[in-house]
Amino acid sequence: MKKQIALLLGDGIGQEVIQSAVEVLDAVADEYGHKFEFESFDIGGAAIDRHETPLPDKTIRGCEQADAVLLGAVGGPRWENHPSHLRPEKGLLGIRKALGLFANLRPVKGFPQLLHASPLKEEVVSGSDLLIIRELTGGLYFGEPSEIREDGQSVVDTLAYQRHEIERIVDQAFQSARLRRKHLTSVDKANVLESSKLWREVVEEKRKDYPDVAVEHLLVDAAAMKLITDPTQFDVIVTENMFGDILSDEASVLTGSLGMLPSASLRTDGVGLYEPVHGSAPDIAGQGLANPLAMILSTALMLRHSFQLEEEAKAVEEAVQETLRLGYHTADLNVVEGEQVGTDVMTRLV
Ligand code: NAI
Ligand code: MG
Repeated sequence: MKKQIALLLGDGIGQEVIQSAVEVLDAVADEYGHKFEFESFDIGGAAIDRHETPLPDKTIRGCEQADAVLLGAVGGPRWENHPSHLRPEKGLLGIRKALGLFANLRPVKGFPQLLHASPLKEEVVSGSDLLIIRELTGGLYFGEPSEIREDGQSVVDTLAYQRHEIERIVDQAFQSARLRRKHLTSVDKANVLESSKLWREVVEEKRKDYPDVAVEHLLVDAAAMKLITDPTQFDVIVTENMFGDILSDEASVLTGSLGMLPSASLRTDGVGLYEPVHGSAPDIAGQGLANPLAMILSTALMLRHSFQLEEEAKAVEEAVQETLRLGYHTADLNVVEGEQVGTDVMTRLV
């Protein structure tokens, strides 16, 4: 199989972990007789430095023409005080929107080798295996108006959803639940937000099409609590853009580190984008310390969802498991036994 993969390196450890992804995919290509061709495009702070925009047109075109996209992470203190249209994060939101990637799948699975790495009790974390489905191109991060009023005394952000935007993400969630343990938790704030009332209404309508899936509604504050006190009660969670952003960072605690969480951003058909859940980690950038496993596990999601290479995807996931089982870990994982290694060695071991 021959595939064209666009690489969006971004900033900080994004640039470092993308190299790990390429190394792993090269190994997969060798082992299974595929040909993966890579082309890099600028995004985020690096693009601002070079092109004075966080998302050059060339980057969007390159992604649209590719079979799949891998993204590192964007952002950093250097661009923090830029006006909002010249922020790295605008590039990230922009590429998701430009490619129409409304469904962000974030699997969270506690690796048995890392039960001790979580600050939570082993009996709480043990057996947790959930999928957070975050709506990615609407909600609070995209609502208009969004502005600082001229007098500097008031600001506004808008949480807006069209019915069809909720319908398509809820459909995705039901379909994902069907392939798993058939339990869907819809997370909202329907006791306060009008947008959440519509969200809940759509879920109630859609459940008639999926009678085999059990449905539960949870308010986001309660969901945040239950996620770390009783995570095994969850199978698939579907939620609004910002709620999903926050809950998935929280859920990373189950796996021991933000450096363990991969994600897939999909649309109904067409190109998919794969990226770790974490950011550019300026505090450890440039030191070779970054945990590459979130990025490597994201390549497994790419092999599975974009290329339908299930065997290859499993091989990558098993290689990660095996490496952890042998006791190798990066500095972010609170593991005492075994051997601590950096990004490069971890990648080669996988
Ligand atoms: P972050 O996710 O970059 O880092 C949070 C903490 O987790 C830091 O202590 C970091 O060292 C650690 N960490 C994250 N990934 C790691 C890895 N792979 N290995 C080892 N340790 C890891 O979030 P933070 O610090 O809030 O944001 C830094 C910058 O990243 C900001 O500019 C932010 O806007 C941006 N960001 C970008 C995202 C993206 O590109 N998808 C997502 C989240 C934040
Ligand atoms: Mg986030």
